[in-house]
Amino acid sequence: MTDVAQAETGPTPPEAVRPGGDDGAPLAFPFTRKCPLSTPQEYAELRDAGPATKVRLQLSGKEAWLLTRHEDVKRVLGDPAMSSDAKSPGYPLQFPVPEEVLQFIKFPFSALDAPEHTVQRRLVIPEFTAHRIQALRPRIQQIVDERIDALLAAGDTADLVKQLAAPVPSLLFCEMLGADPADIDYFRRYSEVTMNRESTQEDVTTLYAEMDGFLGRLITEKEKNPGDDLLSRLAAKNREEGADLELADLVSIARLLVVAGFDTTANMIGLGTLVLLENPEAADALRADPSLSRKAVDELLRFLSIADSATVRVATADIEIGDVTIRAGEGVIASNGAANWDSAVFEDPHVFDIHRDARNHLAFSNGPHQCLGANLARVQLEIVFETLLARIPTLRLAVPVEELSFMHGGHIYGLHELPVTW
Ligand code: HEM
Repeated sequence: MTDVAQAETGPTPPEAVRPGGDDGAPLAFPFTRKCPLSTPQEYAELRDAGPATKVRLQLSGKEAWLLTRHEDVKRVLGDPAMSSDAKSPGYPLQFPVPEEVLQFIKFPFSALDAPEHTVQRRLVIPEFTAHRIQALRPRIQQIVDERIDALLAAGDTADLVKQLAAPVPSLLFCEMLGADPADIDYFRRYSEVTMNRESTQEDVTTLYAEMDGFLGRLITEKEKNPGDDLLSRLAAKNREEGADLELADLVSIARLLVVAGFDTTANMIGLGTLVLLENPEAADALRADPSLSRKAVDELLRFLSIADSATVRVATADIEIGDVTIRAGEGVIASNGAANWDSAVFEDPHVFDIHRDARNHLAFSNGPHQCLGANLARVQLEIVFETLLARIPTLRLAVPVEELSFMHGGHIYGLHELPVTW
């Protein structure tokens, strides 16, 4: 990057604490989506007002710079001067974590920098290549078909979240990991509680410890009796390729995959179905021409931006964003959701248009931490929407949209339930 200055040493000078809101105080973050099928309206106002705004994270009380322009968000996420080290004092942690606890937590590679990040990520990259995921298509199709069979057999109304959106990614992912399908509810509960900003610190810490014990036993078992699954290959690769990570590191990788792989896709299936039901012309076009599904999925990812504030960093060198200097040590929320609704890149961003070219969206982030499961998520979403529209053409909401309950308190946006009929 041309405009990244050298890192400063010593404490940040007082003039570096710049105001965010009109009254000079940093704005409380995250913002609530007042219109449920839109990103928070504050993003658009802030994007027009300037390149960076100071915000204060509601739960942890930490301050950070919020970036809302596509160009800046993309650049910062790809910038080697931006760190993902969650133990760094300026890192915009969403939860309040006591300092003594913070030092002991084994963060997963999503919260580490190179070289640890690179070593750990490389161990699981082969599991998520386009080739590997394409080979899973028949099995994904089978899971989706079985869930839709069960849905249709149960009557003429159902909660689509419970019957389809939640089970498809969790069944598939349990199989990929080599875990017992009987443990799905446990994984799901873990993912729900840890991804919910409203969960108590005590619940999160207890579940963390339990899950670490569970995954530790599972990986140790795979080391002794390897199978044809992700965790067995992870353990073997660790030894054979000389990465020699401790069991606790392997556990943190598995824990990351569980958190990242379950709820994200489930929430995209629930919300994505709702968007298609609310946009019948788009649903008809997709039903008539399933080759549009790749474009439709990208547009849904852009439009919904369910992990809009998951892309956070801390600067390791001063960086200029327009006329704002972000100092080394300061936190940054490079909001992919704000970037995905930037009209400089996406014309009429509030319009859901499956014919637009949305490939430049940042819902999966950018740079070295770009979502590892993007291929897996994409293929599941394509198969679910194509199959759902083809097999239940009369699908519609069973309640008015105003009665739906959305997950405003989560790190990932979603729906609690989606009552449908046909
Ligand atoms: C539609 C669903 C999904 C969305 C919107 C999504 C979005 C994201 C985002 C925004 C990040 C943060 C990257 C950053 O810090 O810059 C991320 C990271 C990650 N995601 Fe996903 N994700 C999805 C599904 C999945 C799935 C199915 C998996 C499978 C295991 C997965 C695995 C990961 C991993 C391992 C990371 C950390 C990557 C790293 O730090 O190197 N994600 N994802």
